[in-house]
Amino acid sequence: MKKWKYGCALFLAVCVAASIIGTDPYRIADAFSRLGQGPDFLYKWKDVPNVQGEQDFTPGAQWKDEEGNLIQAHGGQVQYMEVPDENGRKKKQYVWIGENKSTGHFGNCFAVYTSDDLYHWECRGDVLRSIASWQQLTEDPYFTELYKGCSQEELKEIFSCIHAQAVMERPKMLYNAATDQYVIWFHSDDATSKNTYKYDVGMAGVAVSDSPFGPFRFLHRQRLSQCPKGEIDCYPFSKGEARDLNLFQDRDQTAYIVYTSENNKTLYISRLNESYTDLCTDPENAVSGKDFMRLFPGAMREAPVLIRGENGRYYLMSSSTTGWMSNQARVWSADSIFGTWQNDGNPCIGVGANVTFDSQSTCLFRAENGQWIYYGDRWNAKDLADSRYIWLPVQFAGERLTISWKERWRWEEP
Ligand code: GAL
Repeated sequence: MKKWKYGCALFLAVCVAASIIGTDPYRIADAFSRLGQGPDFLYKWKDVPNVQGEQDFTPGAQWKDEEGNLIQAHGGQVQYMEVPDENGRKKKQYVWIGENKSTGHFGNCFAVYTSDDLYHWECRGDVLRSIASWQQLTEDPYFTELYKGCSQEELKEIFSCIHAQAVMERPKMLYNAATDQYVIWFHSDDATSKNTYKYDVGMAGVAVSDSPFGPFRFLHRQRLSQCPKGEIDCYPFSKGEARDLNLFQDRDQTAYIVYTSENNKTLYISRLNESYTDLCTDPENAVSGKDFMRLFPGAMREAPVLIRGENGRYYLMSSSTTGWMSNQARVWSADSIFGTWQNDGNPCIGVGANVTFDSQSTCLFRAENGQWIYYGDRWNAKDLADSRYIWLPVQFAGERLTISWKERWRWEEP
């Protein structure tokens, strides 16, 4: 009788869990991994002020652009760079690129904003647009001009990569001085003919433009470096995957892409070619330790961010893999990109540190006074367009990179 009762209780518990989590194997894995986050695992910030300050950062508040619309630049990147002004002359401004999530999960365009002080942002529009229909691609002057001269086959390929139901995430942009072009890399995904899960394509997409304000022309998408022979591939069924990704430009202008692969189990860093539009060596011929490096096999890290501090050391921050839910960040550091990466642990300090202050890493950038800033996403799975931004000051304690919570702060006096 007792056994019967326990059996019923267990069955009920499984039903309740399944109704909350669902039956998607990725979500089930996410839920288990979140349970491992310790006491903060259910931490949710409740008391954020609703409005971003006029002259300060209010992490987690709604942040509107100069026209009063919510800033749509999620999973993005901020950098201080030269941009053309109205007269075509170059001036330095902060440029923020990210996912415009006003269409929800799918069909995200990439939007760009500019600012002189990091507090006030002007929307410069969608710089890489997804394509709503075949008719739009072949008749709308925006697209016909952009893809002029493409064959039918090429147009079909472009349409299949950036159509409005595709997944387009985590855009990152670099300026290439040699070609005088701006290059965007992004996570380009969709369902495959074999699987219906929208994250099965697992590729990196590339687009270029003469201006940071677009329009960006989609070039191609591809799988990247593969597990070297002799090492144990954590996901041998699908080689060279690339999902959450980021770009890094070193002091000598060499650029790298850092991305999660092997079904989000292993991170990779691969060197880009001189125009930044492709890998320096194709995956079949790439040499581990020279062209790419495979990092922390099986550690299940994503949302990677790679920077080089003033001390010359490289820092690689990432999150765990719990979908839209926040989890614990971790930083590794190294003396050289393809050198030995040391595990520096969780960079966050204080309450909420176990869930990265309820955010997921997407960028670390320097303000013009040299102050480093952490920019993470506080995803709102129920309304992705109203996901919030968590910007916090970064400190370097000796060689260690740390991040602490601030309710309101200014980059001029962190
Ligand atoms: C996160 C990833 C996001 C998005 C999300 C979808 O882990 O970092 O960019 O892909 O999963 O669940």
